[in-house]
Amino acid sequence: MIKKIHHVGIVVESLARACRFWRDALGLPLAREADIADQGVRASLLAAGDSEIELLEPTRADTGVARFLARHGEGLHHVCFETPDVDADLGALKAQNVALLDQTPRQGLAGRIAFLHPSACGSVLVELATPPHGEASADSPVRFKRLVIGCRDPQDMTKTYQQLFGLPEVAVNDGPRSLLGWSGGGTLLMVPAVEVGGTLGMAALSMVAPEMAPLVQRLQKVDAVMFSGASEITLKPEAANNVHVHISRYHFP
Ligand code: CO
Repeated sequence: MIKKIHHVGIVVESLARACRFWRDALGLPLAREADIADQGVRASLLAAGDSEIELLEPTRADTGVARFLARHGEGLHHVCFETPDVDADLGALKAQNVALLDQTPRQGLAGRIAFLHPSACGSVLVELATPPHGEASADSPVRFKRLVIGCRDPQDMTKTYQQLFGLPEVAVNDGPRSLLGWSGGGTLLMVPAVEVGGTLGMAALSMVAPEMAPLVQRLQKVDAVMFSGASEITLKPEAANNVHVHISRYHFP
């Protein structure tokens, strides 16, 4: 049922300030922007290859996003999977007694959407979305590649995500990690929490770029680079709304 990772949602204090990093320095083009009044958020979707980055700024104090910001500060908030029929998928999950935040899909920035309860997905807040037809993704100089998730038992998490969402396993190795998803549509890398400082849930973003030099220059201007080599860049989380971002060199086919 799931086609790809549609976007990764990041909660920020100020959309304007966050755009200076994600849009201007990283170079991700703005795909859509909206005030979602009933949810008390202002959001921007930025193109990042086959997936998008969603930046969320709370506009009221009594919302889930505002409470997240007050409790955890800025950072990774949710992952959204694209499905052709969110109504059918939500019905199927409901029939399996999966814990849901939305009992019926509603209109969101990414189209028709619904959220599952994080308890159903190993402390990860998962959104399902059916975007409107005929949406073309913009070209971007940096592309989303994978989301790193810390968990108690990666094999257990893998089973859960295969059962709930039918995500295929991309590569199997003998180690404790596992990779789920699609080489072209983004992947989830499940790792033991100890590998990501004890984080249970979303821990880091991996992205790819064909050219490092112009990117490093733009990122250095906003003091965002923690490490840069010939084929990789590690960003300072404090420059990226508290998100651990790693970019490696990759020539798009
Ligand atoms: Co979202």
